Amino acid sequence: MLVLGLETSCDETGVALYDSERGLLADALFSQIDLHRAYGGVVPELASRDHVKRMLPLIRQVLAEAGCVPTEIDGIAYTAGPGLVGALLVGASCAQALAFAWGIPALGVHHMEGHLLAPMLESQPPQFPFVALLVSGGHTQLIRVDGIGQYELLGETLDDAAGEAFDKTAKMMGLNYPGGPEISRLATQGVGGRFVFPRPMCDRPGLDFSFSGLKTFALNTWQQCVSAGDDSEQARCDISLAFQQAVVETLTIKCKRALKQAGLKRLVIAGGVSANKALRTSLEKMLGDMKGDVYYARPEFCTDNGAMIAFAGCQRLQAGQHESLAISVQARWPMEQLAPL
Ligand code: KG4
Ligand code: ZN
Repeated sequence: MLVLGLETSCDETGVALYDSERGLLADALFSQIDLHRAYGGVVPELASRDHVKRMLPLIRQVLAEAGCVPTEIDGIAYTAGPGLVGALLVGASCAQALAFAWGIPALGVHHMEGHLLAPMLESQPPQFPFVALLVSGGHTQLIRVDGIGQYELLGETLDDAAGEAFDKTAKMMGLNYPGGPEISRLATQGVGGRFVFPRPMCDRPGLDFSFSGLKTFALNTWQQCVSAGDDSEQARCDISLAFQQAVVETLTIKCKRALKQAGLKRLVIAGGVSANKALRTSLEKMLGDMKGDVYYARPEFCTDNGAMIAFAGCQRLQAGQHESLAISVQARWPMEQLAPL
């Protein structure tokens, strides 16, 4: 089955063609980061308008790269939520219009299920069951995964998502959006031990997270540096390192706890923050000590992309799922509501 995948939930237009027999045939991405950078974050209306401009050229590009024609496509998968409603509507209406014109089914895919399944595009895909850590700009969740659509939420953030904490910490030190890659780059030049950040909610049982305090701690630390006359690049690097170490250690402690609780030794990490090298290294060490395995996607498939939507949609379309021509998207959408395959 050949599936066209469209991703437009936030600030990236992603398009890909995935074939159930031949694998990923082509994928293309247009990132709007330069468009939003001046505002220090995503401006929803600008995002929607840009998706409109990029969508059809990207679809043509992907078809050309794969050497495919529209009549070969068996179904279209698009991100139906969660995300920015205006941005989601661009992908949804485009997918439904093309599906109607081409006489094929369309299916709305859950953005976080896309992220969750992205490591399955790699050469050594994880086997079910496993524990998944979903860490993106909007979500931080620990989930027990027994199969596609069989999701049990084990814990989640009570306030900011991990990626959001990276972005906000970066912004207040005057760094560019998105903050995750900036902080991890500066952290490599940081001097360890100059600052020590707390490890929130690690001293009590449970699998929930809280990252807003860490962001405030970073703000106070930065303001103390500035008032002491040190607003140098080195101060930013040292704070970035201390902040990243706190996030990474907190996530590692909770993942270990979740694996123990679930009685599993397989961990999947997905979403933008799973591209973070320090996080990967820390989790690899933890799983190594447990004689378990950690799985993640290549960096470009950790952040938003069309390939993960084409792949997730293909699994569900193959199982016979599709929808009516109604164009409907959801800004919020708990993943446990998804139907099992
Ligand atoms: O999954 P994603 O592309 O979009 C959402 O679904 O939210 O995640 C974006 C988030 C941003 O907060 C970004 O700062 C973060 O992922 N991120 C990173 C890294 N690359 C992206 N955070 C830490 N380290 C990175 N290398
Ligand atoms: Zn995402």
